[in-house]
Amino acid sequence: MPATPDPPATLAERSVRAVWHPCTQMKLHEDAPPLAIRSGDGAWLEAEDGSRHLDAISSWWVNLFGHGHPHIRAAIHAQVDRLEHVMLAGFTHEPVVRLSERLGALTGLGHAHYGSDGASAIEVALKMSAHYWRNRGQAGKHRFVALAGGYHGETLGALAVTDIPLFRDTYSALLQACSVLPSPDWRQAAAGEDALACARRQALVLEAHLAQHHASTAALIIEPLIQCAGGMAMYHPEYLRLARELCTLYGVHLICDEIAVGFGRTGSLFAHQQAGIRPDLLCLSKGLSGGFLPLAVTLATDDIYQAFYHHEVRRGFLHSHSYTGNPLACAAANAVLDLFETRDVIASNQALAARIDSTAEALRRHPRVRHWRRTGMVWAFEIDAGRVDGHTVAGMSTRLGQAARRRQLLLRPIGDTVYWMPPYCLDDEAIGVLVDGTLGALEEVCG
Ligand SMILES: Cc1ncc(COP(=O)(O)O)c(C=O)c1O
Repeated sequence: MPATPDPPATLAERSVRAVWHPCTQMKLHEDAPPLAIRSGDGAWLEAEDGSRHLDAISSWWVNLFGHGHPHIRAAIHAQVDRLEHVMLAGFTHEPVVRLSERLGALTGLGHAHYGSDGASAIEVALKMSAHYWRNRGQAGKHRFVALAGGYHGETLGALAVTDIPLFRDTYSALLQACSVLPSPDWRQAAAGEDALACARRQALVLEAHLAQHHASTAALIIEPLIQCAGGMAMYHPEYLRLARELCTLYGVHLICDEIAVGFGRTGSLFAHQQAGIRPDLLCLSKGLSGGFLPLAVTLATDDIYQAFYHHEVRRGFLHSHSYTGNPLACAAANAVLDLFETRDVIASNQALAARIDSTAEALRRHPRVRHWRRTGMVWAFEIDAGRVDGHTVAGMSTRLGQAARRRQLLLRPIGDTVYWMPPYCLDDEAIGVLVDGTLGALEEVCG
């Protein structure tokens, strides 16, 4: 009998052999292969086997208006027919100029420096801040302050100001020292303290630190309102207001990292606006291009820009990436801004969030759910580990992700934190899958 030939490898199997997937212990794919996706439409992704899955995490928080949004797609098509790319040193083009002008008008930060992924915007902000102080004759100001549980990316500069041991510890010998101060995360409020009081108490720690170390400190870097990768830690805008005051008082830059929370995620176009402040440097990426193409930008004040403006070349900011300001990505970003201009996205998100809240009432009250919280279009809760016999929290959240996947729902819990950060286009069917799928998965893993 001739041997029966092996069935052809699936796309997922070929992927595990040939693709080194990000942020993944590849051996775990032996039990749980990646999901091979062939198309996307609105809030849904369609797998190779034809099954549909609700993208409740906006593909790592990049998608705003749904997959394949026609306006963004058309803008990229139109641009690709004109100019796919030209280097931005010594050249310029209409999409990057228009985008920079629009971002400047929206933020009051009129100088836009481009990169690709979020971490590249962080590298720029850190280098720009330290270089600013050098150009101003204060080269000793080159240290950074960050918050506990903060996340700013995986490149060495960004990792140095990240406080997530799983990502950081292995590389700690390669990283510049950074001062990490307590987070205003309201889950860590003292007994009898509300979110506002918690924010004020932690701002006192910042004040004490800056009073002592301002002469060596270049900048404070912070994720406004939600520390996302650290477990969707939410905090009161008062902390941002006080941080701004203290940075101004002590001559330290305030870098706002809105890579995850910009573009309406927190209920305002930019999260820092809820504190009525303006940062010195603002990092944007992810939703900037609507989830279509890699693009990041670091926006700077005129004061920072002027410190580099000089006849001496080395005083200039000589940082670059090959695809800086790519026209296709800028066209996508301009299309995203068109959507914010022509629709009241913030108001319609408020209505959508209220519908999700009321549908999720049973989940919120579930005995296994702790610290239910929402800011804008981000929801999170922890699974109550103390009441789950025989299972570690980490194991539970992984199993919850898998149980959700069997219910057409893509979740990616962070430690014991389950969260939703969906695109802004959920209809009733999608809300039902989101809520019922999470509830069903929770019941399944909790027994
Ligand atoms: C707040 C924040 N900053 C920076 C980054 C890094 O962005 P990227 O993964 O695009 O490099 C992320 C990514 O999740 C983020 O959430």
